[in-house]
Amino acid sequence: MTNNLDSRLAVVILAAGQGTRMKSSLPKVLHRIGGRPLLGHVLDTARDLAPSHVVVVVRHERDQVADAVLGVSPEVVVVDQDEIPGTGRAVEVALDALPGFDGDILVLSGDCPLADVETLGAFVAGHRAERAEATLMTAVLDDPTGYGRIIRESDGSVARIVEQKDASPEEAAVSEVNAGMYVFAASALREHLPRVGTDNAQREKYLTDIVALLRQSEGRVAASIAKDVTVTYGVNDRVQLSEVGRLLNARTVRRWQLEGVTVVDPATTWIDVTATLAPDVTVLPGTHILRSTTISAGATVGPDTSLVDCEVGEGATVTRTDATLAVIGAGATVGPFAYLRAGAEVGDRGKVGTFVEIKNSTIGEGSKVPHLSYIGDTTIGRNVNLGAGAITANYDDLTKHRTEIADEVHTGSHNVFVAPVRIGEGAKTGAGAVVRKDVPAGALALSIAPQRNTVGWVEKNRPGTGAAEAAARARSAQEAGDGSQEAAHG
Ligand code: UD1
Ligand code: CA
Repeated sequence: MTNNLDSRLAVVILAAGQGTRMKSSLPKVLHRIGGRPLLGHVLDTARDLAPSHVVVVVRHERDQVADAVLGVSPEVVVVDQDEIPGTGRAVEVALDALPGFDGDILVLSGDCPLADVETLGAFVAGHRAERAEATLMTAVLDDPTGYGRIIRESDGSVARIVEQKDASPEEAAVSEVNAGMYVFAASALREHLPRVGTDNAQREKYLTDIVALLRQSEGRVAASIAKDVTVTYGVNDRVQLSEVGRLLNARTVRRWQLEGVTVVDPATTWIDVTATLAPDVTVLPGTHILRSTTISAGATVGPDTSLVDCEVGEGATVTRTDATLAVIGAGATVGPFAYLRAGAEVGDRGKVGTFVEIKNSTIGEGSKVPHLSYIGDTTIGRNVNLGAGAITANYDDLTKHRTEIADEVHTGSHNVFVAPVRIGEGAKTGAGAVVRKDVPAGALALSIAPQRNTVGWVEKNRPGTGAAEAAARARSAQEAGDGSQEAAHG
């Protein structure tokens, strides 16, 4: 981004359509790929072009769309389309929001998120170099179904655009299509848009009709054929949503690979456009790096890991883990099969092991929660080792309470910490302890009831069972053993 805005450039983004084929209660342009709504990608690219104005035209679910736009781009002008339908009308109402502007207007669709800033920058530059009134982006497609067709004169110049629904069989056979991205001289739009009618199959005011009107008045119409047709792909249904999503992801993965990230399997790696990865990060297959996740140099994530809004420190290893809003320190290891929830913070060189869930808790530097544990609302100091099966009982049915485990504490296996409770510095606990009272620093806490063995209980109370038979065999062997010992001594 830059502060040097191009005062001769305005971007108009069309987002008033209903998106019927999505069959969704959510407006089409708000469906997400790569961690952002479709419209968000278009807005982002528009902003990178540094125009002096960005106008978004809304109508269907206008409040939802307008809120989404203004939430991320408060400088955008949101304009309402009236009851006259069509892309031509949409641009006309946008024009009313740009009084006095007589530069170039780049028209984009909110459902075409793959047009990148390089492509569009070159598109605008080409329009200016040609001194055209209008420049169209076109694409040559194997299957042009659904698109407007580009009809050229015998000299190769563009004569007009015919929509699929209005096309003759010969016109429909044309494989060059209108990509729905245009640059217009504002003056040309002001002059010709009011003359566009609705006499067509859809009874709409087509923006595309302006091409023929311009030609009639000797206006210059240029066309730029997209070298990479994927930049022109739009989303009309959910099949296209996933296809365009995959293309965007492939682009994002490739960008990080060229920045020094090893991605073993791009096809199963999903990286949101908002995530950041450092050089020498390794991403193993089946990994989702989402939202504002950042991964520092030398870290390894995956396989089969999902990170949402996480921070992963240098050289950390995160294996088969599901984590949201978690911070993982440098050199820490997490997983396999760990679940880090909001507010989990694993300190440098810390360890969160197998089948461990952590929520709203800090694990201090070098501290370990290696096996089968739930740690919630807990602060753990440095160099602590929790035995297998540690549970913080943080919830008493009414409120959550905190557990504090101070530096250098080592706990036995299968402990329950009944919060609020504090384990003091260097303290130890025995296996199976249910810790209900604070443990002073340096103390050993045992909470076990003495063990009592009732000899012969199984043979007496469970006669005829496998257990009773096994017990009987063991008793006979024991008695025989005792007998032979006696014999040897005797
Ligand atoms: C449009 C073009 C077609 C082109 C195709 C490329 C017209 C008449 N046709 O067709 O030549 O090949 O895009 O993708 O322009 N919109 C509004 N207000 C409206 C109608 C639509 O803002 O009244 C917006 C939509 O939200 C969408 C964009 O304009 O973002 C395109 O509308 P859509 O209905 O998808 O046009 P297509 O039929 O695809
Ligand atoms: Ca469309």
